[in-house]
Amino acid sequence: MPLLIVRNDITKMSVDAIVNAANNSLLGGGGVDGCIHRAAGPALLAECRTLGGCETGDAKITGAYNLPCRYVIHTVGPVWNGGNNGEESLLRSCYRRSLAVAAEHEVKTLAFPLISAGVYGYPKAEALRIATEEIVNFLQDNEMTVYLVIFDKASFQVGTARFAQIAQYIDDAYVDARVDHIAESHRRKAFAMGKACAPCCAPSDELEFEVDESFSQMLLRKIDESGMTDAQCYKKANIDRKLFSKIRGDVHYKPSKATAFAFAVALELSLAETEELLRKAGFALSHSLKFDLILEYCITNGIYNIHEINEVLFAFDQPLLGVAS
Ligand code: AR6
Repeated sequence: MPLLIVRNDITKMSVDAIVNAANNSLLGGGGVDGCIHRAAGPALLAECRTLGGCETGDAKITGAYNLPCRYVIHTVGPVWNGGNNGEESLLRSCYRRSLAVAAEHEVKTLAFPLISAGVYGYPKAEALRIATEEIVNFLQDNEMTVYLVIFDKASFQVGTARFAQIAQYIDDAYVDARVDHIAESHRRKAFAMGKACAPCCAPSDELEFEVDESFSQMLLRKIDESGMTDAQCYKKANIDRKLFSKIRGDVHYKPSKATAFAFAVALELSLAETEELLRKAGFALSHSLKFDLILEYCITNGIYNIHEINEVLFAFDQPLLGVAS
Protein backbone atom coordinates (compact mmCIF):
# COMPACT_ATOMS: atom_id res chain seq x y z
CA MET A 1 0.00 0.00 0.00
CA PRO A 2 1.15 3.50 -0.73
CA LEU A 3 2.83 6.45 0.85
CA LEU A 4 1.24 9.78 0.00
CA ILE A 5 2.77 13.18 0.64
CA VAL A 6 0.08 15.77 1.28
CA ARG A 7 -0.08 19.34 2.44
CA ASN A 8 -2.52 19.74 5.27
CA ASP A 9 -3.00 20.46 8.94
CA ILE A 10 -2.62 17.02 10.53
CA THR A 11 -5.45 17.72 13.00
CA LYS A 12 -7.83 17.80 10.02
CA MET A 13 -6.88 14.35 8.70
CA SER A 14 -9.67 11.76 8.82
CA VAL A 15 -7.49 8.72 9.29
CA ASP A 16 -7.36 5.93 11.87
CA ALA A 17 -4.41 7.50 13.67
CA ILE A 18 -2.17 10.56 13.57
CA VAL A 19 1.34 10.80 14.95
CA ASN A 20 2.33 13.61 17.31
CA ALA A 21 5.86 15.04 17.43
CA ALA A 22 5.93 15.29 21.21
CA ASN A 23 8.58 15.83 23.91
CA ASN A 24 9.77 13.45 26.66
CA SER A 25 7.15 14.66 29.15
CA LEU A 26 4.23 13.99 26.75
CA LEU A 27 2.55 16.93 28.47
CA GLY A 28 2.14 19.15 25.43
CA GLY A 29 4.19 21.92 23.88
CA GLY A 30 4.30 24.09 20.76
CA GLY A 31 4.33 23.16 17.06
CA VAL A 32 2.23 20.22 15.93
CA ASP A 33 2.03 19.02 19.57
CA GLY A 34 0.25 22.23 20.56
CA CYS A 35 -2.12 22.00 17.57
CA ILE A 36 -3.02 18.39 18.40
CA HIS A 37 -3.68 19.08 22.09
CA ARG A 38 -5.78 22.15 21.27
CA ALA A 39 -7.88 20.24 18.74
CA ALA A 40 -8.23 17.09 20.89
CA GLY A 41 -9.26 18.96 24.07
CA PRO A 42 -8.10 18.61 27.70
CA ALA A 43 -8.96 14.88 27.96
CA LEU A 44 -5.91 14.10 25.81
CA LEU A 45 -3.59 15.79 28.31
CA ALA A 46 -5.30 13.90 31.14
CA GLU A 47 -4.57 10.57 29.43
CA CYS A 48 -1.00 11.64 28.60
CA ARG A 49 -0.37 12.29 32.30
CA THR A 50 -0.95 8.60 33.02
CA LEU A 51 1.78 7.46 30.58
CA GLY A 52 4.90 8.46 32.52
CA GLY A 53 6.57 10.24 29.62
CA CYS A 54 8.32 8.69 26.64
CA GLU A 55 11.95 8.02 25.67
CA THR A 56 13.39 9.74 22.61
CA GLY A 57 12.89 7.39 19.64
CA ASP A 58 9.98 5.56 21.29
CA ALA A 59 6.20 5.90 20.76
CA LYS A 60 3.06 5.62 22.92
CA ILE A 61 -0.60 5.59 21.93
CA THR A 62 -3.68 7.37 23.33
CA GLY A 63 -7.24 8.06 22.31
CA ALA A 64 -7.93 11.05 20.05
CA TYR A 65 -10.94 12.66 21.80
CA ASN A 66 -12.23 15.59 19.72
CA LEU A 67 -9.97 14.85 16.74
CA PRO A 68 -11.45 13.21 13.62
CA CYS A 69 -9.28 10.11 14.10
CA ARG A 70 -9.30 7.20 16.56
CA TYR A 71 -5.79 7.34 18.03
CA VAL A 72 -2.88 9.67 18.55
CA ILE A 73 0.55 8.03 18.55
CA HIS A 74 3.01 10.22 20.45
CA THR A 75 6.64 9.89 19.48
CA VAL A 76 9.64 11.92 20.61
CA GLY A 77 12.14 12.92 17.96
CA PRO A 78 15.78 13.83 18.61
CA VAL A 79 16.89 17.42 18.99
CA TRP A 80 19.28 18.21 16.11
CA ASN A 81 22.70 18.72 17.54
CA GLY A 82 24.98 18.77 14.50
CA GLY A 83 24.23 15.25 13.25
CA ASN A 84 26.93 13.27 15.07
CA ASN A 85 24.95 12.55 18.18
CA GLY A 86 22.81 9.63 17.10
CA GLU A 87 20.12 11.87 15.64
CA GLU A 88 19.55 9.77 12.52
CA SER A 89 19.06 6.43 14.26
CA LEU A 90 16.77 8.04 16.85
CA LEU A 91 14.69 9.65 14.13
CA ARG A 92 14.46 6.33 12.23
CA SER A 93 13.41 4.69 15.48
CA CYS A 94 10.53 7.21 15.87
CA TYR A 95 9.08 6.09 12.53
CA ARG A 96 9.66 2.38 13.17
CA ARG A 97 8.16 2.45 16.66
CA SER A 98 5.17 4.58 15.58
CA LEU A 99 4.46 2.23 12.66
CA ALA A 100 4.81 -0.82 14.90
CA VAL A 101 2.41 0.63 17.49
CA ALA A 102 -0.02 1.53 14.69
CA ALA A 103 0.13 -2.02 13.29
CA GLU A 104 -0.47 -3.50 16.79
CA HIS A 105 -3.69 -1.44 16.94
CA GLU A 106 -4.79 -2.49 13.44
CA VAL A 107 -4.49 1.01 12.08
CA LYS A 108 -5.11 1.02 8.33
CA THR A 109 -4.59 4.71 7.64
CA LEU A 110 -1.93 6.72 9.43
CA ALA A 111 -0.67 10.30 9.11
CA PHE A 112 2.78 11.51 10.18
CA PRO A 113 4.04 15.07 10.52
CA LEU A 114 7.72 15.59 9.73
CA ILE A 115 9.10 14.62 13.12
CA SER A 116 11.93 16.78 14.56
CA ALA A 117 11.81 19.11 11.55
CA GLY A 118 10.39 22.09 13.46
CA VAL A 119 11.40 23.20 16.96
CA TYR A 120 13.92 20.34 17.21
CA GLY A 121 15.80 21.70 14.21
CA TYR A 122 16.44 18.60 12.08
CA PRO A 123 17.34 19.71 8.52
CA LYS A 124 14.09 19.37 6.61
CA ALA A 125 15.34 17.68 3.45
CA GLU A 126 17.14 15.04 5.56
CA ALA A 127 14.11 14.60 7.80
CA LEU A 128 11.94 14.06 4.73
CA ARG A 129 14.36 11.50 3.27
CA ILE A 130 14.51 9.50 6.50
CA ALA A 131 10.72 9.61 6.87
CA THR A 132 10.11 8.31 3.34
CA GLU A 133 12.77 5.59 3.61
CA GLU A 134 11.41 4.22 6.87
CA ILE A 135 7.77 4.36 5.77
CA VAL A 136 8.49 2.75 2.38
CA ASN A 137 10.50 0.04 4.08
CA PHE A 138 7.60 -0.74 6.42
CA LEU A 139 5.09 -0.76 3.55
CA GLN A 140 7.00 -3.51 1.76
CA ASP A 141 5.53 -6.02 4.22
CA ASN A 142 2.51 -4.25 5.68
CA GLU A 143 -0.90 -3.23 4.36
CA MET A 144 -1.39 0.35 5.47
CA THR A 145 -1.91 3.71 3.78
CA VAL A 146 0.50 6.24 5.22
CA TYR A 147 0.30 9.99 4.73
CA LEU A 148 3.27 12.23 5.28
CA VAL A 149 1.75 15.59 6.10
CA ILE A 150 3.84 18.59 5.18
CA PHE A 151 2.72 21.81 6.76
CA ASP A 152 5.16 24.42 5.49
CA LYS A 153 5.88 23.42 1.93
CA ALA A 154 7.89 26.56 1.24
CA SER A 155 10.88 25.03 2.98
CA PHE A 156 11.08 22.30 0.33
CA GLN A 157 11.19 24.67 -2.57
CA VAL A 158 14.53 26.15 -1.76
CA GLY A 159 17.87 24.98 -0.67
CA THR A 160 18.73 21.67 -2.23
CA ALA A 161 21.03 21.61 -5.22
CA ARG A 162 18.82 19.10 -6.99
CA PHE A 163 15.75 21.33 -6.89
CA ALA A 164 17.80 24.20 -8.27
CA GLN A 165 19.06 22.00 -11.13
CA ILE A 166 15.54 20.87 -11.95
CA ALA A 167 14.26 24.44 -11.88
CA GLN A 168 17.01 25.33 -14.36
CA TYR A 169 16.13 22.33 -16.55
CA ILE A 170 12.47 23.39 -16.60
CA ASP A 171 13.38 26.98 -17.49
CA ASP A 172 15.65 25.91 -20.36
CA ALA A 173 13.10 23.49 -21.79
CA TYR A 174 10.32 26.07 -21.51
CA VAL A 175 12.41 28.42 -23.59
CA ASP A 176 12.98 25.67 -26.18
CA ALA A 177 9.29 24.82 -26.24
CA ARG A 178 8.41 28.50 -26.78
CA VAL A 179 10.96 28.80 -29.58
CA ASP A 180 9.50 25.68 -31.21
CA HIS A 181 6.04 27.11 -30.79
CA ILE A 182 7.01 30.42 -32.47
CA ALA A 183 8.74 28.58 -35.34
CA GLU A 184 5.64 26.43 -35.73
CA SER A 185 3.33 29.43 -35.91
CA HIS A 186 5.59 30.99 -38.59
CA ARG A 187 5.41 27.75 -40.58
CA ARG A 188 1.64 27.74 -40.27
CA LYS A 189 1.36 31.36 -41.44
CA ALA A 190 3.63 30.60 -44.39
CA PHE A 191 1.53 27.58 -45.24
CA ALA A 192 -1.67 29.64 -45.10
CA MET A 193 -0.10 32.02 -47.61
CA GLY A 194 0.77 29.08 -49.89
CA LYS A 195 4.51 29.43 -49.36
CA ALA A 196 5.50 26.24 -47.65
CA CYS A 197 4.85 22.59 -47.18
CA ALA A 198 2.05 21.37 -44.94
CA PRO A 199 2.65 21.93 -41.27
CA CYS A 200 3.47 18.89 -39.25
CA CYS A 201 0.80 18.01 -36.75
CA ALA A 202 0.68 20.35 -33.80
CA PRO A 203 2.17 18.97 -30.63
CA SER A 204 -0.62 17.45 -28.68
CA ASP A 205 -0.73 15.86 -25.28
CA GLU A 206 -3.30 13.23 -26.25
CA LEU A 207 -2.46 10.90 -29.13
CA GLU A 208 -4.32 8.08 -30.78
CA PHE A 209 -3.98 4.66 -29.23
CA GLU A 210 -1.46 2.39 -30.86
CA VAL A 211 -3.26 -0.51 -32.43
CA ASP A 212 -0.71 -3.30 -32.03
CA GLU A 213 0.30 -3.86 -28.40
CA SER A 214 -1.89 -2.16 -25.78
CA PHE A 215 -0.65 -0.35 -22.67
CA SER A 216 -1.59 -3.27 -20.48
CA GLN A 217 0.13 -5.78 -22.77
CA MET A 218 3.31 -3.73 -22.97
CA LEU A 219 3.32 -3.23 -19.20
CA LEU A 220 2.94 -6.94 -18.46
CA ARG A 221 5.61 -7.81 -21.03
CA LYS A 222 8.02 -5.29 -19.50
CA ILE A 223 7.34 -6.65 -16.00
CA ASP A 224 8.18 -10.17 -17.23
CA GLU A 225 11.33 -8.93 -18.92
CA SER A 226 12.43 -7.07 -15.77
CA GLY A 227 12.30 -10.25 -13.66
CA MET A 228 10.12 -8.45 -11.07
CA THR A 229 6.92 -9.97 -9.73
CA ASP A 230 3.69 -8.02 -10.34
CA ALA A 231 3.59 -7.07 -6.65
CA GLN A 232 7.17 -5.83 -6.64
CA CYS A 233 6.40 -3.69 -9.66
CA TYR A 234 3.16 -2.08 -8.47
CA LYS A 235 4.61 -1.45 -5.02
CA LYS A 236 7.65 0.18 -6.56
CA ALA A 237 5.25 2.26 -8.67
CA ASN A 238 3.35 3.34 -5.53
CA ILE A 239 0.21 1.90 -7.16
CA ASP A 240 -2.28 -0.05 -5.10
CA ARG A 241 -3.20 -3.64 -5.79
CA LYS A 242 -6.80 -2.84 -6.88
CA LEU A 243 -5.69 -0.49 -9.63
CA PHE A 244 -3.07 -2.94 -10.83
CA SER A 245 -5.70 -5.73 -11.00
CA LYS A 246 -7.90 -3.48 -13.14
CA ILE A 247 -5.04 -2.84 -15.54
CA ARG A 248 -4.14 -6.53 -15.63
CA GLY A 249 -7.73 -7.58 -16.28
CA ASP A 250 -8.53 -5.11 -19.04
CA VAL A 251 -6.40 -5.28 -22.14
CA HIS A 252 -7.69 -1.86 -23.26
CA TYR A 253 -7.31 -0.11 -19.90
CA LYS A 254 -6.42 3.57 -20.33
CA PRO A 255 -4.42 4.74 -17.32
CA SER A 256 -3.83 8.35 -16.34
CA LYS A 257 -0.59 9.86 -17.53
CA ALA A 258 0.78 9.80 -13.96
CA THR A 259 0.04 6.08 -13.65
CA ALA A 260 1.81 5.37 -16.94
CA PHE A 261 4.80 7.39 -15.71
CA ALA A 262 4.75 5.57 -12.36
CA PHE A 263 5.15 2.22 -14.11
CA ALA A 264 7.86 3.58 -16.42
CA VAL A 265 9.77 4.68 -13.32
CA ALA A 266 9.19 1.38 -11.49
CA LEU A 267 10.46 -0.51 -14.53
CA GLU A 268 13.42 1.89 -14.86
CA LEU A 269 12.64 2.42 -18.54
CA SER A 270 14.82 4.64 -20.69
CA LEU A 271 13.32 7.90 -21.94
CA ALA A 272 12.57 6.33 -25.35
CA GLU A 273 10.83 3.36 -23.72
CA THR A 274 8.94 5.69 -21.40
CA GLU A 275 7.66 7.62 -24.42
CA GLU A 276 6.59 4.35 -26.02
CA LEU A 277 4.69 3.27 -22.89
CA LEU A 278 3.01 6.70 -22.69
CA ARG A 279 2.04 6.45 -26.36
CA LYS A 280 0.34 3.11 -25.67
CA ALA A 281 -1.81 4.96 -23.15
CA GLY A 282 -2.53 7.80 -25.59
CA PHE A 283 -0.09 10.39 -24.21
CA ALA A 284 2.97 12.25 -25.46
CA LEU A 285 5.85 13.69 -23.49
CA SER A 286 5.52 17.46 -23.66
CA HIS A 287 8.11 20.17 -23.08
CA SER A 288 5.37 22.63 -22.23
CA LEU A 289 4.35 20.75 -19.11
CA LYS A 290 6.34 21.06 -15.90
CA PHE A 291 5.15 17.62 -14.81
CA ASP A 292 6.58 15.98 -17.94
CA LEU A 293 9.84 17.92 -17.70
CA ILE A 294 10.43 16.83 -14.11
CA LEU A 295 9.87 13.21 -15.12
CA GLU A 296 12.11 13.63 -18.13
CA TYR A 297 14.83 15.11 -15.92
CA CYS A 298 14.58 12.27 -13.40
CA ILE A 299 14.58 9.51 -16.02
CA THR A 300 17.52 10.92 -17.96
CA ASN A 301 19.44 11.36 -14.69
CA GLY A 302 18.72 7.81 -13.51
CA ILE A 303 16.45 8.89 -10.64
CA TYR A 304 14.03 5.97 -10.41
CA ASN A 305 13.04 6.16 -6.76
CA ILE A 306 9.38 7.12 -6.96
CA HIS A 307 9.36 8.74 -3.54
CA GLU A 308 12.35 10.87 -4.41
CA ILE A 309 10.53 11.88 -7.60
CA ASN A 310 7.35 12.61 -5.63
CA GLU A 311 9.28 14.92 -3.31
CA VAL A 312 10.39 16.88 -6.35
CA LEU A 313 6.90 16.89 -7.90
CA PHE A 314 5.47 18.03 -4.57
CA ALA A 315 7.98 20.85 -4.29
CA PHE A 316 7.02 22.05 -7.77
CA ASP A 317 3.29 21.82 -7.01
CA GLN A 318 2.67 18.98 -9.42
CA PRO A 319 0.48 15.90 -9.02
CA LEU A 320 2.28 12.94 -7.49
CA LEU A 321 2.92 9.54 -9.04
CA GLY A 322 1.07 6.59 -7.65
CA VAL A 323 -2.28 5.68 -6.31
CA ALA A 324 -3.77 9.13 -5.94
CA SER A 325 -3.26 9.94 -9.61
N1 AR6 B 1 0.04 19.77 10.94
C1 AR6 B 1 1.09 19.15 10.33
N2 AR6 B 1 2.37 19.51 10.55
C2 AR6 B 1 2.61 20.52 11.41
C3 AR6 B 1 1.58 21.20 12.10
C4 AR6 B 1 0.25 20.78 11.83
N3 AR6 B 1 -0.81 21.35 12.42
N4 AR6 B 1 2.15 22.17 12.89
C5 AR6 B 1 3.47 22.10 12.70
N5 AR6 B 1 3.75 21.11 11.82
P1 AR6 B 1 7.38 20.55 15.53
P2 AR6 B 1 9.58 18.83 16.45
C6 AR6 B 1 5.05 20.66 11.28
O1 AR6 B 1 8.11 21.76 15.97
O2 AR6 B 1 10.55 19.52 15.59
C7 AR6 B 1 6.92 20.80 20.50
O3 AR6 B 1 6.95 21.88 21.37
C8 AR6 B 1 6.20 21.62 11.38
O4 AR6 B 1 6.16 22.54 10.29
O5 AR6 B 1 5.93 20.48 15.84
O6 AR6 B 1 9.61 17.32 16.52
C9 AR6 B 1 7.00 19.47 21.23
O7 AR6 B 1 6.33 19.50 22.47
C10 AR6 B 1 7.39 20.68 11.25
O8 AR6 B 1 7.68 20.39 9.88
O9 AR6 B 1 8.04 19.20 16.18
C11 AR6 B 1 8.46 19.29 21.38
O10 AR6 B 1 8.95 20.00 22.46
C12 AR6 B 1 6.89 19.41 11.92
O11 AR6 B 1 5.48 19.55 12.06
C13 AR6 B 1 9.01 19.87 20.11
O12 AR6 B 1 8.05 20.83 19.66
C14 AR6 B 1 7.48 19.15 13.30
O13 AR6 B 1 7.65 20.38 13.97
C15 AR6 B 1 9.15 18.83 19.02
O14 AR6 B 1 9.79 19.40 17.91
